[in-house]
Amino acid sequence: MKLPSHLSIENSRLHIGGHDCTALAETYGTPLYVTDLDRIAGNFRRFRAALTAYYPETQVLFAAKANGNLTVIRTLAAEGAGADVFSSGELELALRAGMKPERLLFNGSSKSPADLALAVETGVRVSVDSIEELRQLNAVAAEAGRTAAIAFRVNPALEVPTHPKIATGLKTSKFGIPAEEIVAAYAEALAAEHIEPVGIHCHIGSQILEVDPFARAAGVMVRVAREITDIGVNLEFIDIGGGLGIPYHHDTDPAPTPEEYATAVMPVFLQGIRECGIDPALWVEPGRWLVGDSSVLLVGVNSVKRAHRTFVNVDAGFNLLVRPAMYDSYHEVVVADRADAAADGTYTVAGPICETGDLLAQDRELPAPHAGDTIAVLDAGAYGFAMSSQYNSRPRCAEVAVSGGKHAIMRRAERLDDVTATMETPDWTA
Ligand code: LLP
Repeated sequence: MKLPSHLSIENSRLHIGGHDCTALAETYGTPLYVTDLDRIAGNFRRFRAALTAYYPETQVLFAAKANGNLTVIRTLAAEGAGADVFSSGELELALRAGMKPERLLFNGSSKSPADLALAVETGVRVSVDSIEELRQLNAVAAEAGRTAAIAFRVNPALEVPTHPKIATGLKTSKFGIPAEEIVAAYAEALAAEHIEPVGIHCHIGSQILEVDPFARAAGVMVRVAREITDIGVNLEFIDIGGGLGIPYHHDTDPAPTPEEYATAVMPVFLQGIRECGIDPALWVEPGRWLVGDSSVLLVGVNSVKRAHRTFVNVDAGFNLLVRPAMYDSYHEVVVADRADAAADGTYTVAGPICETGDLLAQDRELPAPHAGDTIAVLDAGAYGFAMSSQYNSRPRCAEVAVSGGKHAIMRRAERLDDVTATMETPDWTA
């Protein structure tokens, strides 16, 4: 199996960032997320360089939903990243990580009064998803005696090749305002006393392994830019969202590079803004591409059962990595201490959760796993820990960071006390 450069096999053992996965599993226990921070910094630099080569005024906003660990967000902040934040929590984390408010875009299709108040108070840019939200934000800003700088989220009505649950720019999706209604929306924003429209925003979907859809989205965005420039909007930024996919099937998926993405998108963007006679910043919001391949989830084998197929029962399932159960996603798996041994059979890696769908990997050719082995689930850095739960009252596992020769906990494992910490016993119950 092809491995990215931060993963290697030395003495038959899988290593991440030069660290032996089996040894990390012994030191910290399993299940365990291990994240290579140097890989994240490298991914960020490569993504940014691909775009700034065409247009220096490009700002990369990390989609913080993909990985909410503060150490990860700090690593990206130190590289100069801003963030797409989708909740007040993500906003607070991005600020705590040291990101500047002017590099944050507060997204979301259902913001609460408290979300809007926090957006105004912190002075971040807000991606407004409806006219009603615009009016609410104007009222909140008026109350605070401030002006809110906004973009509207445009629904570009584009079909994209990905799982339907993560295609977000379809005509039928819940996000954004249809392109044909957008000029009226900006006209209302221009007229609102406490609103300053400064950007436009879209996001067409996630895990997209072709670059053409991004070029088409950029085309829609520059068309909208021209229409709203004509009515007097002074655009500071055009945000074309995230969504570039990664090759989860290492040997067979196409793996469009950031350079290929830039080659498709940038000519459309540059020609569009030239024709408009404007020079807004380009904002992009990658999540998965920056962090997806940076982490492995190490799981321990509890037992092996030969039935109609051979189940390898491991100590984490969709409680810690929900993607296979939720989107039928594929993640490569490697028996960490025999990483280059020949396969001798077909195995299904099953989690400990009380549901039939709790399978991390199905029908894989592997060297026979045994109780006590460690299996690495690859490419778990995006929407992995971030979507974990305590289902079956299983405390979440630890996350370890590696960088250069160092490794350390970046999130301790939960204990059962953490699971019960927020529970109260009403005094009228038994
Ligand atoms: N911007 C916005 C407004 C988004 O909603 C998202 C992702 C992104 C940027 C980043 O997209 P990315 O570059 O990571 O593809 N849980 C799913 C993915 C959900 C994506 C949600 N929005 C998964 O595990 O595949």
